[in-house]
Amino acid sequence: MQGMVTGLAQNVTQKILSSHIVSGELAPGQEIGIRCDQTLTQDATGTMVYLQFEAIGVPRVKTGLSVSYIDHNTLQAGFENADDHRFLASVAAKYGIRLSRPGNGICHQVHLERFAVPGQVVLGSDSHTPTAGGLGMLGIGAGGLDVAVALAGAPYYLKAPKVVGVRLVGRLRPWVAAKDVILEVLRRLRVKGGVGKVFEYFGDGVATLSVPERATITNMGAELGATSSVFPSDEQTRAFLAAQGREADWIPLAADPGAVYDETVVVNLDELVPLVAKPHSPDNVVPVAEAAGTPVQQVVIGSCTNSSYKDMATVAAILKGRRIAPTVSLVVAPGSRQVLKQMIAAGVLETLVDAGARILEVACGPCNGIGQAPASGAVSVRTVNRNYRGRSGTLDAQVYLASPEVAAAAALTGVLTDPRDLGPYPAVDLPAAVLVDDSMILLPPADGSAVEIVRGPNIKPFPATAPLPEDLSGRVMIKLGDNISTDDIMPAGAHLLSLRSNIPAMARYIFSRVDPEFDRRLEQQPGPWFVLAGENYGQGSSREHAVMAPLSRGLKGVIAKSFARIHRNNLINFGILPLALADPEDYTRISEGDELELKGSRSALSSDGPVVLVNRTKGLEIEARCELSPRERAILLAGGLLNYVREQDN
Ligand code: F3S
Repeated sequence: MQGMVTGLAQNVTQKILSSHIVSGELAPGQEIGIRCDQTLTQDATGTMVYLQFEAIGVPRVKTGLSVSYIDHNTLQAGFENADDHRFLASVAAKYGIRLSRPGNGICHQVHLERFAVPGQVVLGSDSHTPTAGGLGMLGIGAGGLDVAVALAGAPYYLKAPKVVGVRLVGRLRPWVAAKDVILEVLRRLRVKGGVGKVFEYFGDGVATLSVPERATITNMGAELGATSSVFPSDEQTRAFLAAQGREADWIPLAADPGAVYDETVVVNLDELVPLVAKPHSPDNVVPVAEAAGTPVQQVVIGSCTNSSYKDMATVAAILKGRRIAPTVSLVVAPGSRQVLKQMIAAGVLETLVDAGARILEVACGPCNGIGQAPASGAVSVRTVNRNYRGRSGTLDAQVYLASPEVAAAAALTGVLTDPRDLGPYPAVDLPAAVLVDDSMILLPPADGSAVEIVRGPNIKPFPATAPLPEDLSGRVMIKLGDNISTDDIMPAGAHLLSLRSNIPAMARYIFSRVDPEFDRRLEQQPGPWFVLAGENYGQGSSREHAVMAPLSRGLKGVIAKSFARIHRNNLINFGILPLALADPEDYTRISEGDELELKGSRSALSSDGPVVLVNRTKGLEIEARCELSPRERAILLAGGLLNYVREQDN
């Protein structure tokens, strides 16, 4: 097989990639195409994925297993979400996709429990798809269009990643959690430290961590900007799968003796202390002791990072027989129906309710601003993975990311607290068997050809794209700093998530969090436009709405110091130029409102040379790079991936 690394000691990442590669060479930075065994979508990205899949025109999905989850917006404040859910159900039945119904759980938690398989590859239209790495599966987050194309049986293309070996040494001390492991890695490497890399965990500390703990770590590797994160598959993995009644899915998977890594990081578990990520970035990490005493008004336990039975039972064990502080609102959202049923059976739910917890639906909920927005200026301690400004639904809220242990301690005391001050640690054991009930996962009929797709009035077509023109010009409508997230570009929250299937309506809210006047400015100055940004533009969620909505209102290109992986791919997939400044200092030579011109863009891209941007306002020329694989170049010239796929079919 082309690109196969043979006869060499391989790490786990190389083993999985080399067994799935269909094109290219497995050398860091080279573009490879890989076969995807599974796909997953969630409702916030899923409606567009399936509209795009329909547009490709394939009658049935060609993946081994595909699951459509409904977990992000289950609030149904109006008809829009209910319509989306009905659309997703009809699409799943027609095209051969399993449907995880609202109430069954968060996609990554359910996928880990019921579908993840060691050694396989899952592509998901959600940036936390690497959660499956806790089980030895390579999970990769991607834009919706990439997932639509994978559903049609095409490979997924990515730059072969560097592999960072994270050697875990020793064992976590009482009150120190898996969350602290990934917060420590984020503290050291920061939010763009993982771009172009897979983080592979190895060392004697690995065996001390259960699968849910590993999944917390691989989940939040997304905040490093990493392509994925993965653990070996070992006896812990076998025990987890056996408890799920899926031991037949287990295979042993470990790095070969002598396997090497491109970089190595050592984390001594014995030396870790309870940590928090302070507002407003997941890498703003300090020991919780440094922030101790900060008054806390809200505590949220949940999200795909920390919503396992172990997380819930640990919080309950800490709160047992006590009441939360009267100044704190504690909300709990279990990760899956299985977790909830287990909590009921073990008395965990009763303990939490007795302590004063508010129990939420089994879903993403507060993690992406679907309810439980904190009060103005309030401090909220959350077990989630992102604390970008405003993501909680309250622009001036102060969100701290923490382990369930730290969150429970804050709920009890009403202030940020080092949980080690609470006394003996009430360790929780995982049950040997869990209550498996897949009745909320609907199987598609063998033949879906007669199924009618049901579309509500809120479901609008996605914006059309056109081949890249030879000459491009436009105005810089906004100048942004470093680490702008897709939440900043196209916010979430209850109201906006209900518009995810309606790009024209959603496009009124582009950049509304960073510039409330942006919509009005765009109205007043219609025409093609550019974005100027700093480092790591587009970090965070995989949502391609952060491309489709600006595209629908005339965005032609983004000029930045650097790009986050998924967002850069999404720009290319929709025919929008991602231009990296050749000299980052040139960032200061472009201002908001400047008129830019790019002459001969097709020729410049075809010749692999630098792209020259003329700043007509300032009378300057600025060099930019648009480093593309031949395939990406063809996609951009065609005006996006869908046009490219159609061209290939003709
Ligand atoms: Fe959902 Fe938040 Fe995870 S929105 S998929 S719980 S990052």
